[in-house]
Amino acid sequence: MSKTYTKTIQEALGRDPVHPFPARMAPGIALDILSSEQDQIRVLDPMMGSGTVLAMARASGHSAIGIDIDPLAVLLARVWTTAIDEPRARARAAEVLERARDNMPSLSVSDAYPRNADSETRSFVRYWFDIYARKQLASLANSIHGVRDDHIRDVLWCAFSRLIITKQAGASLAMDLSHSRPHKAFESAPIKPFNKFLSAVDLVLKNCISKSQPERVRRRGHRSVTHESFLLREGRSILF
Ligand SMILES: C[S@@+](CC[C@H](N)C(=O)[O-])C[C@H]1O[C@@H](n2cnc3c(N)ncnc32)[C@H](O)[C@@H]1O
Repeated sequence: MSKTYTKTIQEALGRDPVHPFPARMAPGIALDILSSEQDQIRVLDPMMGSGTVLAMARASGHSAIGIDIDPLAVLLARVWTTAIDEPRARARAAEVLERARDNMPSLSVSDAYPRNADSETRSFVRYWFDIYARKQLASLANSIHGVRDDHIRDVLWCAFSRLIITKQAGASLAMDLSHSRPHKAFESAPIKPFNKFLSAVDLVLKNCISKSQPERVRRRGHRSVTHESFLLREGRSILF
């Protein structure tokens, strides 16, 4: 067995994933194959999930293209492989929370849904979220929509999703969302989104690539791996 085969993501990258997305590629297997390539190659992962193969390609000095049908996967892979200005992201996160707190009292329960939600989505949301969490989440979402910087907005959506998709206590009435086996377990949500939003942002930023401390990658030839070396798309937008 090779040295890298059993490596965890933390051992391979020195950071963890930005989100508990299920069904990851075993990082050591990808790293094993990719680090044995002598020349810089372009890696295509047509079902990239949250981007393990892409992150291993990056760490091995390759460029990569990723596609996924799930918009959440595309968001997470983008956040994980893009360098971010942390201080600005933290400042925007604090503003987003303040704006959400200011706006929540005037938000009616009938408006406490995702934007443009159809009746099926609304009834799904009513099943999984109590009214208080719905109002806080809708206020946060409205506030995040207003952030102009695309990368920072992505980081904040990723943190927003972390409030909901957790193994145990989250902002919904469910347990085990990160394992794709959700079941209704609570009468009211164990966490209040406003109380946890900034710590969720911290967890995402801790595992992003920082603009001020770029991740070490193996250099191949004279080309370095930059964000421009990564092209991540939703499957539907490529297909049609
Ligand atoms: C096991 S995960 C992939 C893990 C990923 N390769 C990694 O490096 O961690 C499978 C992914 O395939 C995606 N998927 C399934 N059917 C797809 C399709 N028809 N087109 C694009 N992506 C698809 C799913 O959304 C899911 O994110």
